[in-house]
Amino acid sequence: MPPTIFINHTINLTPFSPEDKQYLVQYLNDPIVYRNTLQIPSPYTDEEAETWLKIVAQNREKLGTEANWVIRHQKDGLLGSIGRAMKNHGKGHLEEIGYWLAAPFRSQGIMTQVVQIYSDWLFANHPDLVRIEANVFPHNAASMRVLEKAGFEREGYARKLHVKNGVYLDSIRMAKIR
Ligand SMILES: CC(C)(COP(=O)(O)OP(=O)(O)OC[C@H]1O[C@@H](n2cnc3c(N)ncnc32)[C@H](O)[C@@H]1OP(=O)(O)O)[C@@H](O)C(=O)NCCC(=O)NCCS
Repeated sequence: MPPTIFINHTINLTPFSPEDKQYLVQYLNDPIVYRNTLQIPSPYTDEEAETWLKIVAQNREKLGTEANWVIRHQKDGLLGSIGRAMKNHGKGHLEEIGYWLAAPFRSQGIMTQVVQIYSDWLFANHPDLVRIEANVFPHNAASMRVLEKAGFEREGYARKLHVKNGVYLDSIRMAKIR
């Protein structure tokens, strides 16, 4: 049985597998995902998905456990993903999380439940961890609401924190403390 984090009676977090590639390509060619995230490329090709699965394997090796999880429904399969940014190589008191949900499954409360359970799971399974943070673009009200409902608090507004395609972007930092 692969490592599993129980979310509810139909959804679990489970590891990525090579069969997930086609769903990454299907769901990540989405202008909303591209607009709201920093690292997910567009267009999202087969090669991008293969590169991602290699990164997932490298992170697993570094950490000795999963760093990146598939949000998997027992009937609908891959719904999205959540994982760690591997701050300080996955060691120490601080971690950042990132996540996305495929368009057909949004606005049903799924990510709220996933972020809540996953962040609590990180604290429970990593005794050194005291702070989990997330960085959200100011236009992404849905993601801020998800974090708030999952116990994160807004800490600050960082101006021009990121550069994407030569454009500086502001970011809102939110964190959950043990
Ligand atoms: C952001 C995202 C993860 C939300 O997932 P989700 O499962 O749809 O979220 P939930 O249904 O659990 O909760 C969404 C909340 O945001 C609210 N919301 C949605 N759109 C909103 C908007 N435009 N303005 C304000 N609130 C909004 C919903 O009403 C809901 O809050 P409520 O329960 O208090 O009514 C999903 O839309 C997504 O993957 N988007 C693209 C990628 C992304 O943004 N990733 C996060 C990067 S930081």
